[in-house]
Amino acid sequence: MLSQVDEVASSAHADLQKVTGLDELEAWRVRYLGRKSKLISILRSLAALPVDERRDIGARANQVKNQLEASLAQKKEELDSSVNLSLTRESIDISLPGQPYHLGRLHPTTKTTREICDIFISMGFQIAEGPEVEWEYYNFEALNMPAEHPARDGFATLWVDYKTETGARPMLMRTHTSPVQIRTMEQVKPPIRVIAPGRVYRYEATDATHEWMFSQVEGLAVDKNITMADLKGTLFEFARRLFGTDRKCRFRCDYFPFVEPGVEIAIDCFMCGGKGCRLCGNSGWIEILGAGMVHPEVLRGCGIDPEVYSGFAFGMGVERIPILRFGIDDIRHFYSNDLRFLRQF
Ligand code: DAH
Repeated sequence: MLSQVDEVASSAHADLQKVTGLDELEAWRVRYLGRKSKLISILRSLAALPVDERRDIGARANQVKNQLEASLAQKKEELDSSVNLSLTRESIDISLPGQPYHLGRLHPTTKTTREICDIFISMGFQIAEGPEVEWEYYNFEALNMPAEHPARDGFATLWVDYKTETGARPMLMRTHTSPVQIRTMEQVKPPIRVIAPGRVYRYEATDATHEWMFSQVEGLAVDKNITMADLKGTLFEFARRLFGTDRKCRFRCDYFPFVEPGVEIAIDCFMCGGKGCRLCGNSGWIEILGAGMVHPEVLRGCGIDPEVYSGFAFGMGVERIPILRFGIDDIRHFYSNDLRFLRQF
């Protein structure tokens, strides 16, 4: 019997090593210290034993029982504290402030482009699009700027190496959105009213007022009997909707090879009301776009008879508008991906 007590002791200790949870510990307790356990039944049967056996076995069995109870208590403490530890580690303090969740937002260029387009859409214009990598023909030639035309100097061009089996055809990164005019006139018959928003590229060293990539919105209306009065009415209304109904507009002669006559349109400065300030360079006026009556050669090149149809076209830079409105001091902020800048819009 004495050896049975020792076996119980050693297997109980070995099993206790394997216990990793409170449930397992309870099973262990039932197995080794429960009412039906070997040790307890040995203790219960002591009374029936002869006196000296009772003394030896009784002493040993009680010693083992005390040891097992002590081990049980110690193990329970260990498990309790590790449960508490992981509870504390995994607990969530719901009284803490939440993690701020940053909503995405539209880029200022996108916002302004949409604002411009919405105004023209409400006047019956439709959106047209063209490729950013463009044939020289659409970017220059069809717009009345043949090779060697001096106006090409105004468009520092990024040329694209493009070779086909039949030889090289010159391609470039479009320097303005005007080629979309040509693509539209080639594809649809008048009446035409389109606006073409998009990115344009210039081979330019960047500084506070120059970027090698920016955005423009081009407009084109072609129909019978379109006159300069339509151009003025449309663009004056546009300027008032974008910059406020009390704006004045100034139309002055300007030269663009693809229009005749060409005009430059300015609004009276919305900061100083035309008195002259830093924003308008003391002139009282802010230039916002170029426009004109589509050149007869351009119409003819697209298969539209200039004796029957006439049209007006315009083009404007998009970034310039938030630059003016918010006094942004450097155009390079737009595409340098600094969220501190972009989050302001
Ligand atoms: N494409 C011109 C530029 O990038 C802007 C422009 C001027 C467009 C006059 C036009 C226009 O359609 O009629 O500088």
